[in-house]
Amino acid sequence: MKINNSSLLKVCGFPVSLPEGSFPQAVFAGRSNVGKSSLINKLLGRRKLARTSSSPGKTATVNFYKVGYSAEDTKSEFVLTDLPGYGYNVRSKESTADWGKMIEGYLKQASETGVLKVIFLLVDSRHIPNDNDIQMYQWCAYYGIPVVVAASKSDKLKRSEKKKKVQDIAASLGIVFEDVVLFSSETGEGISTLLDILEEAVK
Ligand code: GTP
Ligand code: MG
Repeated sequence: MKINNSSLLKVCGFPVSLPEGSFPQAVFAGRSNVGKSSLINKLLGRRKLARTSSSPGKTATVNFYKVGYSAEDTKSEFVLTDLPGYGYNVRSKESTADWGKMIEGYLKQASETGVLKVIFLLVDSRHIPNDNDIQMYQWCAYYGIPVVVAASKSDKLKRSEKKKKVQDIAASLGIVFEDVVLFSSETGEGISTLLDILEEAVK
């Protein structure tokens, strides 16, 4: 897949209203600071389209990006959705619960209308998935939303520990080793695999 262009389509508070048109959507979810916005920029070959920050909670709205691409001699479009991260503990407990419900509301709506093609669930490759990650994974599985587990920041791992980390992540989610894609938005490891999965999902 060759990305031809990308732009911010819509910024949304909650409750989320889906963008006009029935473009296939790929969603990026995961805890705050895990690297969702950085991955979107890397996949699109853009430096600063999605805003990133070292302080968690940068993305506080649902941001939709429209992407034009070419594959197999055809041109088409899809939408990437950058979700606010969960587990950002500056939010009060109550608003965290509301927020979870609203994210779920959007995902349910998008999957029922058939536009939601895949969720990339990002987990930090250095850590075992937490309860929120596990809940999110199980929730997607329950609704039959295809979910790809992408383990971020692989550049922070020693070569010798990569396999074990991926095994541990897979085991904690009850999936197989091969279903976790280890990647880095810094070095580009795993990015072509994620692009292939994206192409397959949105075409
Ligand atoms: P929220 O919007 O708060 O939910 O965060 P996010 O998941 O969008 O994370 P973001 O992309 O803003 O990245 C958070 C921090 O991690 C930034 O300081 C990034 O530079 C850093 N980061 C992202 N990806 C990588 C990576 O592959 N390797 C390393 N070393 N750092 C990364
Ligand atoms: Mg972000």
